Amino acid sequence: MNFHILTLFPDMVERGLNTSIIGRAVGKGLLNIETINIRDYTLDRHKKVDDYPYGGGAGMVMQAQPIYDAWQAVAQKIGRKPRTVYLTPQGNTFQQEMAKDYAKEEDLVLLCGHYEGIDERVLEEIVTDYVSIGDYVLTGGELPAMVMVDAISRMVPGVLANDESGTTESFEGNLLEYPQYSRPEDWMGKKVPAILLSGDHAKVEAWRREQSIKRTMERRPDLLADADLTAKEKAMVEH
Ligand code: ADE
Repeated sequence: MNFHILTLFPDMVERGLNTSIIGRAVGKGLLNIETINIRDYTLDRHKKVDDYPYGGGAGMVMQAQPIYDAWQAVAQKIGRKPRTVYLTPQGNTFQQEMAKDYAKEEDLVLLCGHYEGIDERVLEEIVTDYVSIGDYVLTGGELPAMVMVDAISRMVPGVLANDESGTTESFEGNLLEYPQYSRPEDWMGKKVPAILLSGDHAKVEAWRREQSIKRTMERRPDLLADADLTAKEKAMVEH
């Protein structure tokens, strides 16, 4: 999968995404993360990419021309108009299901804004999806873009090793993951639940399922309405 990130701060994005699992997947050729510096496309002789807002008001607005030309360079390279995400607090809140859906794309453009925003006309021209990572305002779209790349990449086949696989983790079936334990069996007097040492696989699975549901009830009861529960589990949750 190819990510094309349009940004004024390419080194911020590159540094953040060149480590750990994502860095390994890039090394394996499963992912390609390209940053495009919007400033390289300005036609202004002072390399300016922003200007005052029409109608007045605080801050600066990123101008249409450099963004459009940077985007066109990507579209030309891949030979079609790519799905293009603008990171903005005004977008749809990013969810695990969306990460899975984006992971099916061959190419994805992520547009990072700064200052007070971007000239609306270029957004109308190139943006297909408006995405927010949560109800708070950041100084730019770079961190949100990195969040998206990370969450999407781990849904690309081969990026996670088998033992890192995403099938029993949080948000699968709209439940949170069960608690995990590793050695030692006794740490500061706190013992690993005995059932996990029993070797009885069916019992372990049943315990984990119960813990998942309990944890979701405690921490994210809002998820339960859409959780994949059996009739018996539903009854348990409702009492
Ligand atoms: N840019 C600034 N804040 C943002 C947010 N919460 N999500 C996505 N992009 C943003």
